[in-house]
Amino acid sequence: MSSAVAVEKKKLKNPPLEIHHLGDRVLRQPAKRIAKIDDSVRQLAREMLQTMYSSDGIGLAAPQIAVNKQLIVIDCEPDNPTNEPLVLINPKIVAASKALCGAEEGCLSIPGVYLDVIRPEGIEVTFKDENGRPQKIKANGLLARVIQHEMDHLTGVLFVDRVENNLILAEELKKNHFSVNAVQPVKH
Ligand code: NI
Repeated sequence: MSSAVAVEKKKLKNPPLEIHHLGDRVLRQPAKRIAKIDDSVRQLAREMLQTMYSSDGIGLAAPQIAVNKQLIVIDCEPDNPTNEPLVLINPKIVAASKALCGAEEGCLSIPGVYLDVIRPEGIEVTFKDENGRPQKIKANGLLARVIQHEMDHLTGVLFVDRVENNLILAEELKKNHFSVNAVQPVKH
């Protein structure tokens, strides 16, 4: 599906884009819909993938590289050269399971911090792909989690905002030199 943005899955010494970290205001701005899916969007997706692979990530959202657009790249199998990455433009969750599940998450914008987050186990999401074609997928497990995590970035939410154990959260952030004041807890 995503061959139009395929890049070599390898670590670059100088990735094309800079990833912004917790505490940086750009991460808190809501992203805008992309009206026209053209070569510049595909080129940005390519550079996001190169940057993501260079940092050992499995997902990256445009706000993380200070681009205020509803664009996400995902590859749950970065070590599998034949697995095509997923590009989600203007994504929308149209259904979510009642069943919730908790699992550890991390984020390229909060390096070193890994904590449990509870989310719906399964989701259905609509989006446009890099060719501008409307898509709809059902996801569960890791993919559902990554999609929800990345979509949070589009509304300025970070996974640490959803961590329920405040003691462990404060400890982990401190250990990795992030300020707990940068967290904006999401109401449950
Ligand atoms: Ni993230």
